[in-house]
Amino acid sequence: TAGESIVLRVSRYLPGRDAEPVPRDYEVPLREEWSVLDGLNHVKDVLDGSLAYRWSCRMGICGSCGMTVNGEPRLTCGTFLSEFAPGPVVVEPLRGFAVIRDLVVDIEPFLGKLASVTPWLVRNGAEPPPDAEFAQTPEQLGAYKQFSMCINCMLCYSACPVYALDEDFLGPAAIALAQRYNLDSRDMGAAARFDVLAAAGGVWDCTYVGECSAACPKGVDPAGAIQQYKLTAAMETVRRFLLPKGAR
Ligand code: FES
Repeated sequence: TAGESIVLRVSRYLPGRDAEPVPRDYEVPLREEWSVLDGLNHVKDVLDGSLAYRWSCRMGICGSCGMTVNGEPRLTCGTFLSEFAPGPVVVEPLRGFAVIRDLVVDIEPFLGKLASVTPWLVRNGAEPPPDAEFAQTPEQLGAYKQFSMCINCMLCYSACPVYALDEDFLGPAAIALAQRYNLDSRDMGAAARFDVLAAAGGVWDCTYVGECSAACPKGVDPAGAIQQYKLTAAMETVRRFLLPKGAR
């Protein structure tokens, strides 16, 4: 309703200057159509221009506005202030990542994990089809499509209790990304990905809590990808290391 407001309790922190993060309250208009990101933009534009946070698309596509809202990893552009009325709305950086400033976290370790799974179509020198198009049936597309919907928002890492204990865990989004390519009928890179996915820090570290899939704002099921690949990895391990050479 017009005239109502809500308190955003925002974590402020500049490593090197501040000993620890300090919550700071800002009163913002409580409008029905305002997301938490709209509230942060109001803080930045009107109340305190020194606040640092990331955002871009405002429509759940770019994946840059993930933060911890009242204890849960959420996309702030898709989370409405009214959900938390009468407030306060506690906004903190995504857990599990080093804070660079205020609500901005270091995404480099995450990008390194994505890069480690050979996230592209590997053709091993195979010739393209004569018509130069890799046609796929709806079933072939369906095998990997949901894993291609990831927007790299990192909410799944923030929700993962294994990653919280071990930052070397490859983690949900990177494994789902590997499956996005492993399950693509055009791809021939599964053998190279096995060396990463089945190694220490790979799929076997997942305890199948499922919080990653619950946190995903795009309906991707990383926990399912991991369970799926555990079966593949087990069969590939038998093939590589247990079967006699002639039977592989
Ligand atoms: Fe792009 Fe929220 S601003 S996903």
